[in-house]
Amino acid sequence: MAQLSRFGVSLEDDLLEAFDKSIGGQGYQNRSEAIRDLIRDHLIQKKVGKGNEEVVGVISLLYDHRTHHLGDVLADMQHKASVAVNASLHIHLDVHNCLEVIVVRGTADKVHEVAGKLIATKGVQNGRLITTTTEIKH
Ligand code: NI
Repeated sequence: MAQLSRFGVSLEDDLLEAFDKSIGGQGYQNRSEAIRDLIRDHLIQKKVGKGNEEVVGVISLLYDHRTHHLGDVLADMQHKASVAVNASLHIHLDVHNCLEVIVVRGTADKVHEVAGKLIATKGVQNGRLITTTTEIKH
């Protein structure tokens, strides 16, 4: 059996409460099992779509526009991206929150790299990448 490691995580009370409620509803007996599944899924998703195949990526970013220069930083990253940025949609969700949806094209590796950097940018509260391709193998 693999050796187990313990680690501490700091997060806001309301976020933890919402997480516990959510995993409880799914039938998880404890947080560890839910977090293990999340980590496994994270690693599997990282594997999917790796390589030099041309893919289309749809990146969503949720952030608070009051975060210092964040809009400019995200725009700058798109200008300098190593993939083709085909479209960018900005929606002002409410007084402070913005949703940006960016469509990019490039190799799977590059699309994942660019999306990873955008999503990891300080101030981005939630980010997702969906990849697809027209190169469907029959
Ligand atoms: Ni906005």
